Formats: sequence, structure tokens, C-alpha cells
Amino acid sequence: MTQKIKAIIFDLDGVIVDTAIFHFQAWKKLANTMGFDLTKAQNEQLKGISRLESLDILLEIGKTDAVSNEEKQQLATRKNEWYRENILKMTPQDILPGVKNFLEELKKADYKIAIGSSSKNAGTILERIGMKDFFDAVVDGTKITRSKPDPEVFLKGAQELNIPPEQCLVFEDAESGIEAAKNAGMKTIGVGKPENLPKADKVIPGFKNINISIIENS
Ligand code: BG6
Ligand code: MG
Repeated sequence: MTQKIKAIIFDLDGVIVDTAIFHFQAWKKLANTMGFDLTKAQNEQLKGISRLESLDILLEIGKTDAVSNEEKQQLATRKNEWYRENILKMTPQDILPGVKNFLEELKKADYKIAIGSSSKNAGTILERIGMKDFFDAVVDGTKITRSKPDPEVFLKGAQELNIPPEQCLVFEDAESGIEAAKNAGMKTIGVGKPENLPKADKVIPGFKNINISIIENS
């Protein structure tokens, strides 16, 4: 028998806020400084995973090898500085359409809600958009040692909420995140285009016109 969903875990970048575009712009700028380009399709591989793992994939795309660990740290720092210039300008207006209403509906219906993000900048973003104290738990890149598709981030979220994984549902915009949630034994709803999220149980384009019946019917 399927278990009743009691907790919802949200990825942050590309689900609650459109920071996925800022990550893309910063990685593309870094690629350009190294003499190659990054397409939107290639960028899908960078979503959801840690900063240094993303850099390794970027270097592979640009066929740039023989980069020392020290140079990698410098490249990742440069990317992060460009990225932070954008997130520091964010305001509550940057919460994606429909998200706040949906979250408030979930709270009213007594679902537990959490953030499960690979980002070390999640705290800054939540503060900028006025949602620092909104969630029952926040698990981010500062609390995990293995990034998505490893289930660690979502299992920690479930643990902090005190809800068994099989009663959790995850919203994710990255295929690595969908895999992480599945590896944790959780239900998944992809946010984005179905062709980018083939493993999700269900895919929605965003939260506009979405209400909690989507959870009740999962
Ligand atoms: C994820 C993003 O949320 O966080 C990835 O989808 C990003 O694209 C990762 O690489 C790490 O983020 P940060 O902010 O710590 O560089
Ligand atoms: Mg994301």
C-alpha cells in the first residue's frame, strides 16, 4: 500500500527561485574566459551537483585538462563571485510565481516542509527572499558531504522533519535531484520540461495554478 505523504522537500535553485539561470550565466562566462562556450543543453548536466563537481564537468566539456587543484579552487571562486553578484540583488519579488501560495497551502494543511539543496549559498538566498525562517528544516550544501544524485541531502531533510522517507515527496528541477530523491525512496515531481526530467514520477512546468491536490493525488 502506498504511504500517505506527510512532508514535502523542495530543491531551492530553479524550484523556489530562478537562480538556475544565474548559475548558467556564471558558468558560461567562466567557459568563455577559457575560450569555449556552454550551451543550455550542456548546462543541464551541471544542475543539482556541487560547485566543484560542476566545474569538473565544465572542464570536460571544454576539453580543458591538466588544471591543478589550486587553479580549480580559483576558477570555482571566480564563478561563485559572479553568481553572488546576482543573488545579492534578489528580493522577495524573485520567488517564482505560485510558489508562496502553494507553500502556505501546504502549511495550512499541516504538511511539514523543508529545503534540500546542494548549494552553499542557500542561506543567503533564503535571507534575500525573506524565507529564512519559513521552512521546518533547511538542509543545504554546508550540511552534506555527498551531492545529488546521492540521497544524503533528502535523507537528512526527512530526518530533521522526523518523517520516514517513504512519506516524503520532493520537488526538483534537476535530473540529478530526481535521482537523489528516488535513491532516498521518495516520490518525485519534476519542475521544468518533461524531456529534461524523464525519471520524475510527474512533471509540472512551475507552480502557477498548482494546488495541494497534486500531493493528494500522488
Ligand atoms: C545547486 C545547483 O542547487 O547548487 C547547482 O542546482 C549548483 O547548479 C549547486 O552547482 C552548488 O551551488 P553553490 O551555490 O554552492 O555553488
Ligand atoms: Mg535545482
